[in-house]
Amino acid sequence: MKKIGIIGAMELEVETLKEKMNVNNIVKKASMDFYEGCLNGVDVIIVRSGIGKVNAGICVQILVDLFQVTHIINTGVAGSLNAKIDIGDIVISTDALYHDVDATIFGYQPGEIPQMGRREFTADESLAALAQASCREVNPDIHVFSGRIVSGDQFVSDKSVKDRLVNVFEGFCTEMEGTAIAQASTLNNIPFVIIRAISDKADESAEVDYPTFERKAAADCAKLVARMIQKI
Ligand code: ADE
Repeated sequence: MKKIGIIGAMELEVETLKEKMNVNNIVKKASMDFYEGCLNGVDVIIVRSGIGKVNAGICVQILVDLFQVTHIINTGVAGSLNAKIDIGDIVISTDALYHDVDATIFGYQPGEIPQMGRREFTADESLAALAQASCREVNPDIHVFSGRIVSGDQFVSDKSVKDRLVNVFEGFCTEMEGTAIAQASTLNNIPFVIIRAISDKADESAEVDYPTFERKAAADCAKLVARMIQKI
């Protein structure tokens, strides 16, 4: 029996999904409220993790241990790292890595977690394909891309920082939770996908663009998630 864990870092990333679901129970754990119930006929747990990698990792572990979720979807907004990917477009993860992990002095690649033997965490291909198809269905006017998500505990709003994420990590977009969700899901053998709508360009213009576009971007992303869970 499938049970989908849906994580957004901020309230605006999960509020439309919570409004649409039938809530059976709300469980508080680690300062997070886990909404257990049914969305579009599917068993779901919807939760606002809070911002950043630690919140996101803790959230996944609770979804696994307390709720036995079978799949994890991360919905939210991100900054674009690619000139072709504009505000309002959607990026679906192929894989995810950290841009703020650095043990290069010991010969590791930038972003590689020492002694883990890996740098990237690969998203579930069938979840990613379902997200693509659902996006075309519910948001036909929105451009959708498949690519790498790069995460770190940093809101990127500086062109030189952005350039490094492009040149060193070949990221499509950047945000602050996806890779922690990817890592924690991978460690627990739970298929995951990260779906992010672009709210800004991760450079100096983000200061103005982010507050202007975050709400619509988050809502478009949530709409896609509500559709795709029916197909899992
Ligand atoms: N989320 C949305 N935009 C972002 C940015 N520029 N950096 C980090 N996280 C983001």
